Amino acid sequence: MDFEKLKEEVAKKMNAPGHDFLHVVRVYNLAKKIGRNENCDMDILLAASLLHDIGRGEGVEHSKKSVEIAGEILRKIDFPEEKIRDVLYAISLHRYRDGITPHTLEGKILQDADRLDAIGAIGIIRCFTYGGAHGRMDYHPEDPFFETPRRLEGDRYSLDHFYDKLFKLKNTLHTEMARKIAEGRYEFMREFLRRLKDEIDSQS
Ligand SMILES: [Fe+2]
Ligand SMILES: [Fe+2]
Repeated sequence: MDFEKLKEEVAKKMNAPGHDFLHVVRVYNLAKKIGRNENCDMDILLAASLLHDIGRGEGVEHSKKSVEIAGEILRKIDFPEEKIRDVLYAISLHRYRDGITPHTLEGKILQDADRLDAIGAIGIIRCFTYGGAHGRMDYHPEDPFFETPRRLEGDRYSLDHFYDKLFKLKNTLHTEMARKIAEGRYEFMREFLRRLKDEIDSQS
């Protein structure tokens, strides 16, 4: 299956901050890398990777909207009909917030690839890009590193998102390779926090 044309089509449609086409390409590449190691259907996995966030920004639960739009696109490009159901299934369950483990390997790998793109250096960029675009402050003014008892407010402070979601993602990964890649990415995030704390603390 040649995915280049589909990539072009997706590129035209995706520009939401933090969920732009660059995110999709990274998820696609990560899924390919993980998928090669597993006994999965690459057509299903790669089509799902390219289309998983296509419904972003439509004001509704984006995985549902993505399923709808992906179905239309796949039928238009004559993607094998017998595989469309599994592509849409993987897309429908990709969201971390839903907390559901798909029973297909392609669904699991899509979750792994999408979650890996939320951590590490890339994850840091995306967290602050998204936060900035949604009017969030970079961090809680009195307690940036969540060291005192308080409620996490990821929707007000970008850095809170590290603690309420990003550091938890590792417990939801399914494949050995994803867990391995995650290790280095988490190490870098912890180092980033150490440096940030040094810089903030050295001001006083
Ligand atoms: Fe998504
Ligand atoms: Fe995504």
